[in-house]
Amino acid sequence: MKKTEKLGPKGNLISGHLKDFQRDPLQFMQKLAEDYGEIARFKFGPFQDVYLISNPELIKQVLVTKQKNFVKSRDLTILKPIIGEGLLTSEKGHHLKQRRLIQPHFKREHIRSYGEDMIKTTEEYMKSWKEKEERVLSKDMMNITLGIISKTMFNMNLEEGYDVIGPPIETVMKLAVKRMRSLAQLPLWIPTKTNRNYKRAIDELDHVLFSIIENRRSHKGKSEDLLGVLMDAKDDSNGEVMSNQQLRDELMTIFLAGHETTANALSWTFYLLAQHPEVEKKLHREIDSVIGSNPLSPNHYKELTYAQNIISEALRLYPPAYVIGRQVDKTVNIGGIQLNKGDMTLISQYVMHRRREYFDQPDNFIPERFENQFTDTLPPYTYFPFGGGPRVCIGNHFALMEAVLVLVCIARHFKIKLTPSNQTIKAQPLITLRPKGGINVILEKRS
Ligand code: HEM
Repeated sequence: MKKTEKLGPKGNLISGHLKDFQRDPLQFMQKLAEDYGEIARFKFGPFQDVYLISNPELIKQVLVTKQKNFVKSRDLTILKPIIGEGLLTSEKGHHLKQRRLIQPHFKREHIRSYGEDMIKTTEEYMKSWKEKEERVLSKDMMNITLGIISKTMFNMNLEEGYDVIGPPIETVMKLAVKRMRSLAQLPLWIPTKTNRNYKRAIDELDHVLFSIIENRRSHKGKSEDLLGVLMDAKDDSNGEVMSNQQLRDELMTIFLAGHETTANALSWTFYLLAQHPEVEKKLHREIDSVIGSNPLSPNHYKELTYAQNIISEALRLYPPAYVIGRQVDKTVNIGGIQLNKGDMTLISQYVMHRRREYFDQPDNFIPERFENQFTDTLPPYTYFPFGGGPRVCIGNHFALMEAVLVLVCIARHFKIKLTPSNQTIKAQPLITLRPKGGINVILEKRS
């Protein structure tokens, strides 16, 4: 039997392929798809079968047409203590009900009203930036997106955003990653040092969020921020509003899902721009012709098409959500193979976005490829940085507008150069795809 006719490689009897996967998930998945094709099987531990699916039509079956046979991956349970029963982790009827309540507020028309806050937050943050200053740009992007989500969600100003919410969020995320990386995840009730710190950080965050919610409930009147909108959202069938606990879970979910992903997208974008001065120059030409000496406004977004293509191409090469996991809930046939309850499927944007059948020079940064509605010419689910089907990212329009506006705000005033010791940066696939070790840059003012 030829290698390609088998479903997957032979792994270790005990650990399966877990160690290889953990060592370098991106390379592992890319090689697996190359060697074994559209559906490849491997193992996490002795019993867990995992299928990597790398064919657009089969991906569509998992995410859309046969999605009822799947639930979200068990991996997400690590995040459950943080985000509870929010949109990202909830299932079936509860998810559907919440999604119906929240979705209207993330529509394109609605998001536009947040554009002003996105620009103001970025401009305020950049005020202290100086010519020739060395900065950790990846940290700046986290701070800016945290500031933007704090402002749009709670109407908090920049300092409040990262003084009040930033520190407990950071601790919680660091500890979640630590737990995720350890092979044996001891249940939270076992009082290890990491578990105790994790629980303490979650309690602190809960305290902050519940006091914001209660404070808002005691002040009558309408608020235009996301918290206000979610508080007023009523279930059409029975007029019910969300409980404090449900509000807390949804806020926490949007907060977490909505800032690190966009921050990474922006960090990778600046990294790629610094390596491609010809693209940066073309971006500057677009900025100068569309905005000129006027203040940047959300209305410019539509016309900034090259900036949009730059973001699309950065999301192709470094998709912040680089893999989507689903667990089989009911036996299902995918590509002629029967998957049983408990089996896992993985779908990797990182793998699909770099397939040479669909993308010319797949490893090169070429924003022009997105001209002329390029994505419409691709089979669905070859380019899908925001996932798809009923669990598609609710914040996709928010994220795209935010990424373009922050990019333009910064590129208008500064050229970003990588520091000499920081020219090549590796991708670190944690919960999201981060630049390993951060991105250190030197700012150069645009004359
Ligand atoms: C570049 C930035 C972003 C990327 C690449 C991204 C990617 C994704 C992906 C791939 C999913 C689907 C996961 C799955 O199917 O298992 C998802 C879900 C989600 N995203 Fe995003 N996201 C981004 C920004 C945002 C923002 C800005 C927000 C909110 C303001 C947000 C909120 C959410 C929520 C709530 C879900 C869960 C939706 C559901 O299951 O109903 N995301 N995101």
